[in-house]
Amino acid sequence: MTDHEAARALRQWREAAPDAVLLDGFHALKHALRFGADIRCAITSDKESVLALAAGLAEDMTGAFDDRVVEVPKEALRELVPKGHATQVAALATRRARVDNRQALDRRPRSAPIVVLDNPRNLGNVGAVVRLAAGFGVTGVVTTGDLDPWHTNAVRAGAGLHYATAVEHVDRDALPAGPLYALDPEGEDIRSVVLPDDALLAFGSERHGISPELRGRADRLLSLPMRPQVSSYNLATSVAMTLFHWGGPR
Ligand SMILES: C[S@@+](CC[C@H](N)C(=O)[O-])C[C@H]1O[C@@H](n2cnc3c(N)ncnc32)[C@H](O)[C@@H]1O
Repeated sequence: MTDHEAARALRQWREAAPDAVLLDGFHALKHALRFGADIRCAITSDKESVLALAAGLAEDMTGAFDDRVVEVPKEALRELVPKGHATQVAALATRRARVDNRQALDRRPRSAPIVVLDNPRNLGNVGAVVRLAAGFGVTGVVTTGDLDPWHTNAVRAGAGLHYATAVEHVDRDALPAGPLYALDPEGEDIRSVVLPDDALLAFGSERHGISPELRGRADRLLSLPMRPQVSSYNLATSVAMTLFHWGGPR
């Protein structure tokens, strides 16, 4: 590292930070790079280790890490990212534009479902669902309610995969079009139903389940198989089972 490069990177970081998305750790940056994120600034306190990680875990990305990541003093990294990831690398990226996400969500015909999280309360669950959605190649994840699905804690739990699918907050009355399947323990057994590729798959909040509004609008209420006396599954686990039942990437 030269002092000049490090000072410039730290200046860029401070300028970008207020409205950028924090990518905390090697995997988050790797995924964001792979899925075309606009990386504003990437810093580490140990570039040699970062490049060794890339060589071991993501050889396709070694060049990108070498080009993008600037080494800065350990204290500077700690000051900018106090609860930093063990891999000692962090980056700032531009949030995907709402208009692009909305276009992706509204495009028809739709070849993979959209996951609707109805007023989720736990940002870790939101991130876990984004990661599932990216893996299954779904069209997007939309959330209703007051949480921002791009909150730092959701992006952290999503391992940078917010750039691999369309993640947006929407109002309940502005959901993308498509048949609405709401997941609820009182619904009909999902195993008897084929989920269409253009479905909206809606899941309720951790506390209160699916809202009366979405329940009332649902074309079908579906349940996941569960033994009597178990009340419900975790939200992200329910999404995983439902996407697996849909069929996943082909
Ligand atoms: C933790 S659960 C919500 C529990 C909540 N106390 C309730 O009364 O429904 C979060 C969401 O996961 C989905 N879910 C959990 N278990 C399910 C099951 N057995 N069948 C269908 N959906 C389920 C539902 O969409 C539910 O709203």
